[in-house]
Amino acid sequence: MDTDPITTSYTSTVTFSLLMLVAVLIAAYYYIETSRAVRLIKKLPTGPPSVPILGHSLIPLTWPPELMVEKVIEFYEKYGGTGGAYFGTKTVAFITDPQDIEIILSSSVHIDKAKEYEYFKPWLGDGLLITKGDKWRRHRKVIASTFHMNILKTFVPLFYENSIDLVNRLRDKVGKKFDCHDYLSAVTVDILTETAMGVKKEKRQKTGYEYAMAVMKYTLFLSYNYTLSDIIHRRQYNVLLRYDMLYKYSKFAKLQEKLLNIVHTLTEHVIKEKAKDFEEKLVKDQQVKEVQNVKPMEKSNPTKNMEHAKNKAANYMHYVRDDLDDIDENDIGEKKRLAFLEMMFELKKNGQMTDEEIWEEVNTIMFEGHDTTAAGSSFALCILGNHPDIQARVHEELDTIFGDSDRQCTFQDTLKMKYLERVIMETLRLFPPVPLIARHLNEDVKIVTGDYILPKSTTVLIVQFITHRLEKYYPNPTVFNPDNFLPEIMQQRHYYAYIPFSAGPRSCVGRKYAVLKLKVLLSTILRNYRIISDTPDKDFHLRGDIILKRHDGFNIKIEPRKPASRKEE
Ligand code: HEM
Repeated sequence: MDTDPITTSYTSTVTFSLLMLVAVLIAAYYYIETSRAVRLIKKLPTGPPSVPILGHSLIPLTWPPELMVEKVIEFYEKYGGTGGAYFGTKTVAFITDPQDIEIILSSSVHIDKAKEYEYFKPWLGDGLLITKGDKWRRHRKVIASTFHMNILKTFVPLFYENSIDLVNRLRDKVGKKFDCHDYLSAVTVDILTETAMGVKKEKRQKTGYEYAMAVMKYTLFLSYNYTLSDIIHRRQYNVLLRYDMLYKYSKFAKLQEKLLNIVHTLTEHVIKEKAKDFEEKLVKDQQVKEVQNVKPMEKSNPTKNMEHAKNKAANYMHYVRDDLDDIDENDIGEKKRLAFLEMMFELKKNGQMTDEEIWEEVNTIMFEGHDTTAAGSSFALCILGNHPDIQARVHEELDTIFGDSDRQCTFQDTLKMKYLERVIMETLRLFPPVPLIARHLNEDVKIVTGDYILPKSTTVLIVQFITHRLEKYYPNPTVFNPDNFLPEIMQQRHYYAYIPFSAGPRSCVGRKYAVLKLKVLLSTILRNYRIISDTPDKDFHLRGDIILKRHDGFNIKIEPRKPASRKEE
């Protein structure tokens, strides 16, 4: 029987294509599975079996974001704290032991961020969190200097004023259950705008509430909130969203555009307001110079100069003067230190910073400075709410410092908040707002806890959420115990066993700002309220979209309180 020539040609085309596909798959299989990096990663203790070529890439697809933290804990309990995975030629290693972590974080070679941080680019540009090389070094140096303690001290009255505003806003929540994270997020954005950005309250566009909601809460469907962090996080672990070519057709791409529009509208408004302020300041400075030129004698009069500087400082700081200004007086004569955005404009004036770089750094500081401390303070309130004994000790400490006065909090007061500081540190141990850090390895790394090599170009995930819960370093690791941070206990612990702010050359530039702000904010709330929460911290449903949060909401109740000495009134 004769065969139809069309059918014959079709059959041979299909057969040829199938053979080609099989050949490509076999070649890819050998290329991936025999590559040095994959072979070294496979030597690490690994989790569930991988599939050829795709490696472990299918595993996270089955983990919804709200179960991610539970899955990571489950994974750790089943397979241990060191491990590896691969997705095609991309290799990933996980480490949790402080000795291994030290090798990476203390190094000045492995300071580049993993490729997965690139998904932040539409939001933060090539700002400090992401950038590398010379740009990172230059920007790090100037930005770190703007978070110097001498500047932070001048922020305390602003931290306090905003905290008192929050206390007043919370009055209608007394006795009701509510999610405190919404409130703490909004106040955190307002504080950042007024301190690091130096934009006064009356010049702010609405409140930080809208910005905060875009970053952390946006209801697309009635039942579900998608946030910028959530979308970026999905892109980091979901292979289907990794590639721009596919991503741009997803529902997330449109939503991201909408959310970025809200976020950038606020940050661009902040930059515009500060630019106007800066221009006005330049004009005033010019006028002062001209007057000084007319009266040259005054220029060399140190007392007058001091007086002038004092008045100038009082004008710039639109809040009341307190004892901090006296401490800061010692700074006059030193090179003048500037707050973050003021410094950015000063550098621009000297041709050392472009408009685009200012935009990137403002967006970076707004994100890093906001979501992290909002989560930290919300966890602290929830925890205090279900540990009345620990909360009573905090109240006792605050009553000792403030007595029955409702005066504002000063920098000196914050130095006396030793127990509250331990509560904050313990909160950041059990619930680190940044639960893991990812670095790109620029060289092979030999770890110390096993005979393993992490190959060059691997993404190494430092999972501090797990490190902070290692029994070896924290007896009863899941129990909230502020005494884990007694000085004598801390001294005996491995330094890298506590890294909520990361550590080494690429650690958090805002850590002192964060702790100082948390002390003022939490102490002001706690001077005015008693917190009640009925969910024990071991039952918090955690969710880790970049920043660790409670998926079940940071629900608390508050009751007004008076210092112990005023109870009889
Ligand atoms: C409780 C609050 C905070 C926590 C837990 C925290 C934690 C961290 C961590 C873990 C990193 C390293 C991230 C990584 O390598 O992926 C980091 C970096 C950074 N943080 Fe924070 N942070 C906090 C508050 C702040 C604040 C208040 C600011 C600024 C106002 C800030 C600004 C930054 C910046 C700019 C970086 C990037 C530094 C660099 O790469 O050189 N952070 N933070």
